[in-house]
Amino acid sequence: MRPKVTVVGAGNVGASVAQYTVEKELADVVLVDVIEGVPQGKALDLLQAGPIHRYDSRLVGSNGYDETANSDIVVVTAGFPRKPGMTRDDLLFKNAEVIQAVTQEVARRSPQAILIMVTNPLDAMVQLAWKVSGFPPHRVMGMAGILDSARFRAFIALELGVSVENVTAFVLGGHGDTMVPLPRYSTVAGIPLPELLPKEKIEAIVKRTRDGGAEIVGLLKFGGAYYAPGAGVVEMIEAILKDKKKILPCAAYLDGQYGIQGLYVGVPVKLGRGGVEQVVEITLTPEEDAAFKKSVAAVRELVEKLKL
Ligand code: 2OP
Repeated sequence: MRPKVTVVGAGNVGASVAQYTVEKELADVVLVDVIEGVPQGKALDLLQAGPIHRYDSRLVGSNGYDETANSDIVVVTAGFPRKPGMTRDDLLFKNAEVIQAVTQEVARRSPQAILIMVTNPLDAMVQLAWKVSGFPPHRVMGMAGILDSARFRAFIALELGVSVENVTAFVLGGHGDTMVPLPRYSTVAGIPLPELLPKEKIEAIVKRTRDGGAEIVGLLKFGGAYYAPGAGVVEMIEAILKDKKKILPCAAYLDGQYGIQGLYVGVPVKLGRGGVEQVVEITLTPEEDAAFKKSVAAVRELVEKLKL
């Protein structure tokens, strides 16, 4: 039997997650959305691409949650997207209502599932989903760091004219304007980035990475990025279902690590069948630590607004 992945929210991000999941034949997929016909239509369309793309994964779409029962992983992309000029934080209260309702529905039907949150403002929505679900923290996490790191990697590869496969990069902190790309831990074929690019170039790339989501919102005008966010989620799904023990930056619960207590924020973690199996602690310079703490404070402020 194939594993079962539920994707709540059949907009662009949810549909990309469903598409990449079945194209890699990782699981059967249940696509859920409140809009009648949309999850059903997209699921059917993707099912019909199976013979061409050679996958046997099954897909169903639904406006309810009964089909989601006993999912191995539930991905939550539901919520309001950003419009140009909006920050992710502007979505806080509207999306908190959505996340509260969705989490109750999915947690009840799939009590053993791993929850991957995608809705913005990301870190606060993960904290909310963890509280509402009652799940242990290692089974609730958020996708953002993979996306932010992928943007950083893509821009580095473009600048140096090298393969993206040669580039590893790390972004820490919340998925917001205070995220912390870490050039010192970013390498090209093992060579630290500061040895390959001058400081000003790195700073320009860091800035473009930080504004990466807004750049796409500005271009698309309504809604945000979805191919790269979808790909980021599917990297997590694959690491979990194949028990790869892959080190990836994710929004994870800190229980004293990095000196932070009781808060979800972006850090490197080991992902396997158990979910977040370990938070990896790296040493930070005083400047990096200050930037990380600033980002943590921004996340904590949102969480406090939600009275979590
Ligand atoms: C982004 O950074 C949607 O927050 C997401 O593009």
